Amino acid sequence: MTHGPIGAHMRKGPLRAGQRVQLTDRKGKPSTITLQDGGEWHTHQGVLRHDTLIGRSEGIVIANDAGYEYQVLRPLLNDYVLSMPRGATVVYPKDSAQIVQVADIFPGAHVVEAGVGSGALSISLLRAVGDQGTVHSYERREDFRDIAVGNVEAFFGQEHPGWQVRVGDMQEEALRAEEPGSVDRVVLDMLAPWECLEAVKQILAPGGVWVSYVASVTQMSRLAEALRASGGFTEPEAHETMLRTWNVDGLAVRPDHRMVAHTGFLLSARRLAEDQTPLQLKKREKVSEASSEDRAAWPGERWKDDPDAEEGWDPTALKTRTVSGKKSRKTAAYAQKIADQAKEVPRDG
Ligand SMILES: C[S@@+](CC[C@H](N)C(=O)[O-])C[C@H]1O[C@@H](n2cnc3c(N)ncnc32)[C@H](O)[C@@H]1O
Repeated sequence: MTHGPIGAHMRKGPLRAGQRVQLTDRKGKPSTITLQDGGEWHTHQGVLRHDTLIGRSEGIVIANDAGYEYQVLRPLLNDYVLSMPRGATVVYPKDSAQIVQVADIFPGAHVVEAGVGSGALSISLLRAVGDQGTVHSYERREDFRDIAVGNVEAFFGQEHPGWQVRVGDMQEEALRAEEPGSVDRVVLDMLAPWECLEAVKQILAPGGVWVSYVASVTQMSRLAEALRASGGFTEPEAHETMLRTWNVDGLAVRPDHRMVAHTGFLLSARRLAEDQTPLQLKKREKVSEASSEDRAAWPGERWKDDPDAEEGWDPTALKTRTVSGKKSRKTAAYAQKIADQAKEVPRDG
């Protein structure tokens, strides 16, 4: 029996029971199923028996019992994260690719991540740190942790030895679990990353990279100002990634009519050594005093007089979706089921 790199047995060789496959019809509509011995996939176009796929190579075109054809491929990581069970909104592939690059996630790195949500970003981080690296992930919702664990195990076909997930607020749990100055990279995807500033400052090694993914400019601006005010970090850098797909067909070579217009922004900074003061960059524009109208519009100030608002910050104002515990527990049970099936896939060749 060969034991290659973690998860490699899920991505090559003949198709096996427990693996996910993507079936794309002539209209280009992909459907993802998990192969099971004796399993059947029913659609209004007919029935496809899983046994007609198990043991065969991916890349084939197969017909169901009614002669309806599908192209058969294993989902790539990009496809997998968009089709896996979701609790919280996932980081889209165009952004996780950037995060891995901007945060300079390297094989063997020790990475801290929060929150875990559905585990999409965790998979990219785990792949980048490799079998010798570690990712410690923190998630405040237990039901989301369960969904993420199912998704990550289903992707790798086993538990990843370098991954630990802890339930709780990152700003408290990471301070307990991580040695000061021991973390190479911190990646945050949450509503209020500035709440983790002190924790990140303590655990991140000198030169270590902090990347935060935020959905709105108000979050980005608040985090940038908090980083500057705290000291101990380099001047933050911000960017967003726009991806425009193209139609390339004969003379009709043009951008696609639709694109994902907005996902989020990345803000990154590096930890300075203890007691070092960041260099004031000359290029920074002189910031003018805010008027009372400016301050009234500033999210951190706007809810200052509301006794229920947490430090003047009202996350409901971001209009993000809240997932009920009942729905996410159901999703977690499904994610666990596909992980159990994936763990049955033999690891030999
Ligand atoms: C948008 S989701 C993360 C999605 C994830 N990156 C993915 O790709 O699947 C944000 C998560 O952060 C969690 N969260 C928010 N604040 C947190 C904190 N201070 N510590 C730990 N988790 C937190 C939320 O419960 C939520 O699950």
